[in-house]
Amino acid sequence: MRIAVIADIHGNDLALEAVLADIAAHGIGDVVNLGDYLSGPLNAARTADILMERTFPSICGNHDRWLTTRAPADMNSWDRFSHADLAPRHLDWLRSLPPTLVYREDILLCHGTPASDTTYWLEDLTAEGVLHMSSRKRIEELAGDQDFPVILCGHTHIPRAVRLADGRLIVNPGSVGCPGYDDDEPVFHKVETGSPDASYAVLEKTGRERAGTAWTVNFHRVRYDNLAMAKLAAERGHAEWANALSTGWLD
Ligand SMILES: [Fe+2]
Repeated sequence: MRIAVIADIHGNDLALEAVLADIAAHGIGDVVNLGDYLSGPLNAARTADILMERTFPSICGNHDRWLTTRAPADMNSWDRFSHADLAPRHLDWLRSLPPTLVYREDILLCHGTPASDTTYWLEDLTAEGVLHMSSRKRIEELAGDQDFPVILCGHTHIPRAVRLADGRLIVNPGSVGCPGYDDDEPVFHKVETGSPDASYAVLEKTGRERAGTAWTVNFHRVRYDNLAMAKLAAERGHAEWANALSTGWLD
């Protein structure tokens, strides 16, 4: 059994279409989606229409939650831009999404951690705002007693797989549509993947008996017309998005 995992599309419809075509070319029919679908200065409404038609098992990311619970005047620039592009049917769809979801009994979907859509899990920040891989202790603590062989997360946009000592596999597939960003919270920091390519992951159940070791993961990078999306971001006055979409770096 193979399952494609996508996350953090952020309104990048061209990256989404390229990833979905790549998944189909690999003969994979099952796709799960980990949130933050629309926010950013790109094509929120078109991205939402593509996703609403596909009906993938999907959860609510922090930006999806903010789009449906904050007044536009209180939104950050990413959310405000995409909110202006969205119709009521798109917001109704976001409201319908649960914060977590269990898929095929083995797989827990969450956005940040099982308990939070805003907490970085497999990465952490120093007090100076340097992003690094989380300690094993912190990763295990945030996994808690979630008794699933596979736990999927997104949010940091960094592709990574961590195998806990008990065999549980935690996977962040990386971001489909936003390969770098900066954020002021909780301290100013940059997240840069160093590649403009769209990222996703494929889980495979090999059928071996111990539940935790039955699943493996592979990461995929997909080329698409990233410069067209960078141009769109630049035209809309978002230079940092234009840089990230061009190169995977912020400057
Ligand atoms: Fe997020």
